[in-house]
Amino acid sequence: MNPVSSRPSLRMCVRWSLVAASVLILSACGGGGSGASSGSSTATTQSVGLSATAALGEKIFRDPSLSLNGNQSCASCHVAERGHAGPLRFVGPNSDIPTEPGSDGVSLGGRMSPSIRYLSFNKPFRFEDGSASTGTPTGGMFWDGRAATLAEQGKGPFLNPKEMANADVATVISKLATATYANEFKALYGQGIFDNPDAAFERVALALQAFEKESPEFKSFSSKYDAFLRGQASLSASELRGLALFNSTSKGNCAACHPSAIGKDGSFPLFTDFSYDALGVPRNWKVATNPAEFDLGLCANGTDAINALSDAAKAGLCGKFKVPSLRNVGLRKAFFHNGRFTSLTDVVTFYV
Ligand code: HEC
Ligand code: HEC
Repeated sequence: MNPVSSRPSLRMCVRWSLVAASVLILSACGGGGSGASSGSSTATTQSVGLSATAALGEKIFRDPSLSLNGNQSCASCHVAERGHAGPLRFVGPNSDIPTEPGSDGVSLGGRMSPSIRYLSFNKPFRFEDGSASTGTPTGGMFWDGRAATLAEQGKGPFLNPKEMANADVATVISKLATATYANEFKALYGQGIFDNPDAAFERVALALQAFEKESPEFKSFSSKYDAFLRGQASLSASELRGLALFNSTSKGNCAACHPSAIGKDGSFPLFTDFSYDALGVPRNWKVATNPAEFDLGLCANGTDAINALSDAAKAGLCGKFKVPSLRNVGLRKAFFHNGRFTSLTDVVTFYV
């Protein structure tokens, strides 16, 4: 939350009908469009109109052979049916599996797999409109902003023991060297590229980034709400009531952090300003197995920008997580960084 903006405190945010609010999120913010061409998560489908680098990135994105047990790709945890968030096949009131299992089938991360749509509009982490102690923390990848770019982010999952779980970079690249598209990789980056695993890994990350930035499936702007903004669709009476509550600074004030209006430059709203806030979402005990451990978010993200701060300034950032886009939120099965709530009605009840 920007201390110098007009955002009132969350406590003042909401006092209105749960029903109207839920209807709004599902329909107006939900961004019904499930994206363009490649809805499936198999290694065979391919989007058209991508650069050679991005087309290669798409193959890497969908290739499970690059994981420990040959069973998990980026596309396993970022599925089109859920707005490119996690599939959460096991989540639910009667399940003890709150997040996506890794390639080993048993390891569980502590955070939700977020939607990776519309991230081409995000920028590296910085403090906006002020110094590190007064500015608004904004941008960066992951719930805590610890990766500056999509390329930097993309290296993580291959080596994360709770995700694709490869032992090291050399292991990833030796798998890549036997992939069906290995020759395309060599054609783009040189016949000897696999002899230098670190250089090849850099190219993997850049290819993934190119795919995530270029592919229309990650930025379709095809929801009913987009059509409404274009004057090509109308919202129902209850949707309009929800939208008014969402936008009203004296009611929901959701748009203070999840902007819903067309920008001055004509850009369509992303329903996030990529800033960070501490909402105080309750713990998800299904995730937090050790009661002594807390997910502190931004203040503990381990980056130089945060580590350079004074202890007091750092403390002010604890509990803050990045504002997620609400586009396609109606397709998701669990909400907030820890998946504490599994229905939008519960999310709105929490805000109220
Ligand atoms: C086992 C599930 C899993 C796999 C596999 C996986 N991810 Fe993720 N992804 C996550 C989770 C969980 C997070 C959030 C982690 C965090 O914030 O600490 C995430 C975060 C991200 C983000 C940041 C989103 C944001 O809003 O900042 C991007 C981008 C992303 N993943 C892309 C990828 C790519 C590319 C791959 C393949 C190289 C991949 N993911 C593989 C679960 C997964
Ligand atoms: C002060 C800024 C702020 C305001 C105001 C705000 N939000 Fe959020 N919203 C966030 C942040 C930050 C998160 C992520 C928090 C976390 O995971 O701990 C979030 C997460 C969400 C999510 C979960 C999305 C997901 O993918 O997990 C929904 C749904 C949501 N907000 C809806 C709303 C609605 C509806 C309102 C108005 C009643 C609202 N928000 C007002 C900052 C805000």
